[in-house]
Amino acid sequence: MKNQIIELISNAAELDKETVANILEIPPKADMGDYAFPCFQLAKTLRKAPPMIAADIAEKIGNVDIIDRLEVKGAYLNFFLKKEMFVKSMMENASVDNFGASTVGNGKTICIDYSSPNVAKNFHVGHLRTTIIGNSLYKIFSKLGYKVERINHLGDWGTQFGKLIVAYKAWGSKEAVEKDGVAELMRLYVKFHEEAEKDDSLNDEARGWFTKMEQGNEEALEIWQWFVDISLKEYKGTYELLGMEFDHYLGESFYRDKTADVVKRLQDANLLKESEGAQIVDLEEYNMAPCLIMKKDGSSIYATRDLAAIFYRKERWNFEKCLYVTGQEQKLHFAQVFKVVELLGNEWAKDSLVHIPYGLVSLEGAKLSTRSGNIIYAEDILKEAIEKVKATIEEKNPSLEDKDEVAKIVGVGAILFHDLYNQRIKDVSFKWDKVLNFDGETGPYVQYTYVRCASILRNVTDFNPDAEIDYSKLLDEEAIALLKEISRFPQVVLDAAEKYEPCIIARFAMDVAQSFSRFYNACRINVEDDVVRNARVKLVYLTKNTLKDALDLLGIQCPEQM
Ligand code: ARG
Repeated sequence: MKNQIIELISNAAELDKETVANILEIPPKADMGDYAFPCFQLAKTLRKAPPMIAADIAEKIGNVDIIDRLEVKGAYLNFFLKKEMFVKSMMENASVDNFGASTVGNGKTICIDYSSPNVAKNFHVGHLRTTIIGNSLYKIFSKLGYKVERINHLGDWGTQFGKLIVAYKAWGSKEAVEKDGVAELMRLYVKFHEEAEKDDSLNDEARGWFTKMEQGNEEALEIWQWFVDISLKEYKGTYELLGMEFDHYLGESFYRDKTADVVKRLQDANLLKESEGAQIVDLEEYNMAPCLIMKKDGSSIYATRDLAAIFYRKERWNFEKCLYVTGQEQKLHFAQVFKVVELLGNEWAKDSLVHIPYGLVSLEGAKLSTRSGNIIYAEDILKEAIEKVKATIEEKNPSLEDKDEVAKIVGVGAILFHDLYNQRIKDVSFKWDKVLNFDGETGPYVQYTYVRCASILRNVTDFNPDAEIDYSKLLDEEAIALLKEISRFPQVVLDAAEKYEPCIIARFAMDVAQSFSRFYNACRINVEDDVVRNARVKLVYLTKNTLKDALDLLGIQCPEQM
C-alpha cells in the first residue's frame, strides 16, 4: 500500500516516485495517520506555503478506495488508510518467504575483515566486539543478497614472534606451553620485556629470530607455526561458543611473500621516500602522518601487509566493498593505508574501503573471573553468562528440557544483544544485572517474547498459517500497531546495512517485542471464535518469525522454551 500512496502523491504533485518515497514518513502516533507527507521541501520550488501545497495534493488525489480520509495538518498531508485493506496488505507482505530479504546485493561481493586476534595474545573483550559486530554485518549483507567473504586477518606475523622465540628458548618448556596455551605464551612475552629492560642484547637476538622467520628458516618457522596452532585452537573455542565461523583464515603471515610487490608498486609510482633509513609514503598533503612501509632492516610492517591484503582481495574477489571492523584507535592506520591505495591510482579505494570503528568495553562493576592479573578473556565472560543463566533456570524452571543448550543460547544471546543494542561507536559498559535482566531491554527479553509466541502456537492445534484470514478481525489498535512495527523489517535491514549499524536491527527487535507485549495484554488470543482466533494467531506467527529472523541477523538464536 505504501507504493500505492507514493504513486498517488507522485501523480498529484508531479514528482518522481523516488523523491516522494524519500520524503514520505510513518508518523510516530497512530492519530497522525498511517503515512504523512511533509511539504516543507516543496515550498521553495513551488513557491507556495507548505499547507497550501498539502491541500492542493489532497484535492488532486480526491477519493480513492484505499484511503479512508486525508487530513491537512500544518505542513503535513496525513493519510488515514482503510484499516482493513491496510491490515491485509501488511499481513500479506510480512507473510512472504524470507520477509526482510532483498536482492539489492545480488552479484556483488563484500569482504568483511573482523575479529582478527593477535596470535599468542588472549582473545579479549575488544576482540569480542569486532567479532560480534562483524558477524552481524555478515548476516545483514547476506540477507540483502550480497556474497560475503568472512575474513579473519590474524595477527600472526611481526617482530613480536622473534621475542617470543627467544623467551621460549630461554624460559619456556614444551610442556608448559602445551598445558597453559596462550596464557603461557603471554607469560613468556611479559618475561621477555622484563629481561630485555636489563639486557638489551635480547632485543638483537629477537630481531635475529624474526629475520630468520622472514627468510624461511625451518626451526624458526616450526616454533612459530606451533604458537599459531595453539592460539588458533583457543580462538576457535571462543568462536564455537559464539556459534560463529569464518570463510577464510588469512592472517598477516599469508602476505609475507606479497609485500615485496607492494614496495615495487610504490617505487614505480614514485611514492616511496627514505626517512631515517626507513621507507615511507609521505601523506602530509592529506594532513596525515607518513605511512611506514619498510623498516630500516628491510622488514615489512602491519601497514605493508594490509596493503598487500587489499590487492590480494581485490584481485581474488573483486569486492564491491571491503569492511574493516576494529577499535577506533586504528582510525589513522586505515586512513593512511586507504590513501596509499588511492594514490596508487585506484579510484575505487575511496568508496570501497571502509573502516568500521567501535567504542571501548568497560567492565564497570562487573565481577569477572580473570585467569591472571587483569587480563580478561572473552571466553570467560561468555562462560560466566551461561552459568548465570543456568542458575536462573535451575531456580525458576528446573524441569526444562535441554537446560544446557538453552542456557548457552540465552547467555551468549544476552552478551551479543547488549553489545549490539547501541551505536557501535558508543562505549559499552558491562553490568551483569543489566545484561541478563529478563524484563529490561535485553536479549533475554526478546528471546522470552519469542518463547511466548512459540508456546501460544503450540497450544493452538488447529492453526494453519496458509488459511484465509478475515482481516476485519484485526482492527484493534494494538494489533495494527504491532503489524506496523513488523512491516518495517525490510527497510530496517536496508538502513542497518547502509549505516553499518546492527543496533538498528536490535532496536527493531525490541520494538516488535514490546509492541507484541501490548497486543498480548490487550487482545486475548485463544478465544472461542474461530475466525478471530485464526486472525490473531496468524499475527503471533508473524511476530515469532520476524523476531527469529531479526535476532538471527544479530547472531542470536532463539530457544523454543526457556
Ligand atoms: N590484529 C589486529 C588487532 O588485534 C586487528 C586486525 C584488523 N585487520 C586488519 N586488516 N588490519 O588489533
